[in-house]
Amino acid sequence: MDIKKITRNAESILEQIKYHNNLYYNLDKSEISDAKYDELISNLKDLKNKYPDILKNIDLLDKIGGEALAQFTKFTHPSRMLSLDNAMNSNDLESFEKKVQNFLGNKDLKLDYSVEPKIDGLSLNLIYEKGELKEGVTRGNGEVGEVVTNNINTIKEIPKKLNTKNPPKLIEIRGEVFITRDDFDILNKDSDIKFANPRNAAAGSLRQLDKDITSSRPLKFIAHGFGIAEENKNKTYYDTMIEFKRWGIPISPKLQVAKSIKELILIHEDIFQNRNDIPYDIDGLVYKVNFLDLQNRLSFVGKAPRWAIAHKFAAETAVTEIEKIDIQVGRTGALTPVARLKTINVGGVMVSNATLHNFDEIEKKDIREGDKVLIERAGDVIPYIIEVVSDKSKQRKSKFRVPTKCPECESSVVKEKDEVVLRCSGELNCSAQKSERLKHFVSRTALDIDGIGEKQIDLLYKIKLIENFSDIIKIKAKKESIVKLDGWGELSFNNMVNSIDRKKEIFLSKLIYALGIRHIGEKNAKLIAGNFESIDNFKESILASNKDLLKVKLINLDGLGPKAIDSFLEYLSIKSNYNEILELLRVCDVSLEIIKIKKTKISNKTILFTGSLQSMSRAEAKATAERMGAKVVSAISKSTDMLIYGDKPGSKLTKANELKVRVFTENEWIEFTREL
Ligand code: IVH
Repeated sequence: MDIKKITRNAESILEQIKYHNNLYYNLDKSEISDAKYDELISNLKDLKNKYPDILKNIDLLDKIGGEALAQFTKFTHPSRMLSLDNAMNSNDLESFEKKVQNFLGNKDLKLDYSVEPKIDGLSLNLIYEKGELKEGVTRGNGEVGEVVTNNINTIKEIPKKLNTKNPPKLIEIRGEVFITRDDFDILNKDSDIKFANPRNAAAGSLRQLDKDITSSRPLKFIAHGFGIAEENKNKTYYDTMIEFKRWGIPISPKLQVAKSIKELILIHEDIFQNRNDIPYDIDGLVYKVNFLDLQNRLSFVGKAPRWAIAHKFAAETAVTEIEKIDIQVGRTGALTPVARLKTINVGGVMVSNATLHNFDEIEKKDIREGDKVLIERAGDVIPYIIEVVSDKSKQRKSKFRVPTKCPECESSVVKEKDEVVLRCSGELNCSAQKSERLKHFVSRTALDIDGIGEKQIDLLYKIKLIENFSDIIKIKAKKESIVKLDGWGELSFNNMVNSIDRKKEIFLSKLIYALGIRHIGEKNAKLIAGNFESIDNFKESILASNKDLLKVKLINLDGLGPKAIDSFLEYLSIKSNYNEILELLRVCDVSLEIIKIKKTKISNKTILFTGSLQSMSRAEAKATAERMGAKVVSAISKSTDMLIYGDKPGSKLTKANELKVRVFTENEWIEFTREL
């Protein structure tokens, strides 16, 4: 018995399993079938059983079991991780500044900004308690991320202990994990796995179940902000970052402060021109209002802070050839022409498709198959064609013919009044529309089911294993048919079921959005869902017999337009759609979103602002009151609880006194809210 040989054999199988685990779990691709994968596992098991003594010190099976099955633990960030709005030019920056000044109620307010490059990496939340690194968590959806603490511990640049005698009780330090361009080249040369770009390499290395792999990858970290920061005595963002640096946290060497938009633009030009001197990919600069008291007042709207903006770099361009023009059918029937291109590297990203937006665009730019075209790519947006650069006087292929029939279901193509988009009229009969809706249902912005993607939907829909949304949720029942399919096996099937089960618990707004109804995006879905007192109340309201009542309810909703209302009601009027919603409510765990608002003395109170306020804008006053749970109204009535008046209050104050509504001057209000 050759002990060395047996150990080497076992180690080699283990290496292969790790390699395929990495492909499967982290890179979303596989090179072997499930059957082959299962074979590797069982070979290793057999070896362990046969030579328990020789292999007893290498705890192979436990480790594989853990790696293969353990997904990352989820973690709710102590405070939400925000994203950024973008500015492309000086106009955008000026309007950003105006909005800030208006919100703060001072149109002439001079603002200082911090400036840092926008690193193209992965954002990470580091949670330090009493100076000790407790958790490293990916951004996830901003509220809940994945715990990657073990992996973070392998990044040398991230201190496990903050270098300070007086650490705060709790601080969330946020920043970007990335890989330099040089390290990326070396990694791609040395490793069997080829990453498309440094960002993917960083993501694949961090979201990694095997921390040994992470530790072998040259990950770097630069902080670019903080969430909860207890006991922060600094007055500015800049000073806080400098303090972080003293604590041993890497910050951007380019961090600086600018005093005007003009200065910001000069810095932007300079860094853009010299961006090759920065060893990692950046796609713009981030500007933040420097004073923290202003940041607090500005707070955030939607997912982005009002106090920060990303000023993106101009797009990259390249010339390539159109091999073919395809027509894609979207979930609402919209037909979009797509140019299939000879693959080309545009600013570090391999590009093989470009959107043509609509058929008017093809006509206007006279774009034909076989043409040489100039394409542009800006950030993550799908590249588009700027112009044809082929010599138009030379022989070219014939003009592109606008379709009169849907390329998928052959239904006639329609164009609605005031719209440029052509649509397939097939609706429920068009298989492309149906499968696109199913893809939307599982996509990142909808149910966000990562175990099932476009490829799987295409296949399962084609062979009729899934037809409706609820079939996806009930996929477990199709096990026998699916595991028999080529490229599937127990492992991938179970993973898919697990990831579906994890995402079954959803808010009603998500469910409405996931249905993919035309004109019902995330915002409208939230507006609609916020209108019902309970899920039963929603069920009742969508009954055909209650349609008129529902219509009145929707019309009264502030912000929901007539197109969205018609579209939603039309969707419900189709019996199969209505039944599908009921089925989804049955098989998913749907609840109403309770917006977490601090409970205060003004929670649920109806308040009204009148006259011109001196220390803040109306918008700020409203946002602050709403954050404390109040409902801000614009007309006075008996049910108004409080009225706050500034200069020249006019008739509302008189009326409030008549109605015996509690009134506050602006200063009294500020004092009052301070105590809340
Ligand atoms: S500030 C509240 N600063 O860009 C502000 N973000 O598009 C949010 N990023 O999720 C972050 N470099 O991961 C900020 N210097 C920088 C950044 C930066 C890269 C990333 C970050 C964020 C994303 C938003």
